[in-house]
Amino acid sequence: MKKIETIIRPSKLDLLIDRLEGIGIKGMNIFEVKGYGAQKGHEEMYRGVTYHIRLREKIRVEMVVSDDMVEKVVDTIIEAAKTGNVGDGKIFISPVEDAIRIRTGEKGEAAL
Ligand SMILES: Nc1ncnc2c1ncn2[C@@H]1O[C@H](COP(=O)(O)OP(=O)(O)OP(=O)(O)O)[C@@H](O)[C@H]1O
Ligand SMILES: [Mg+2]
Repeated sequence: MKKIETIIRPSKLDLLIDRLEGIGIKGMNIFEVKGYGAQKGHEEMYRGVTYHIRLREKIRVEMVVSDDMVEKVVDTIIEAAKTGNVGDGKIFISPVEDAIRIRTGEKGEAAL
């Protein structure tokens, strides 16, 4: 099993959830986050004065999936979240040792 965390533009969230449901992802967590990447924020002009905005609002989607779903999930995220402009986000993948469904005690992939 792998944990896939992806940081995306807030405007892409609905589409991404639809697409992930479409490929059979059964559970996920959504977080509102603030962060920055390589551009380290951006400039915004207000009443003629330029301000440096350090953090941008993003959405983090977290899900644990079976190993054989990883490639499909990554492709789906890219397809849903890519605009081609800076700030499209990132995908992070890490190993998950085990999962347990509390109600039944099922373990591993059966618990997803
Ligand atoms: N190395 C990182 N670790 C954790 N979160 C990150 C990392 N890099 C970016 N993020 C998060 O992802 C968001 C979007 O990053 P972004 O897509 O701007 O990355 P980038 O490296 O600047 O690429 P690009 O040049 O395409 O903009 C950031 O606002 C931040 O929340
Ligand atoms: Mg960036």
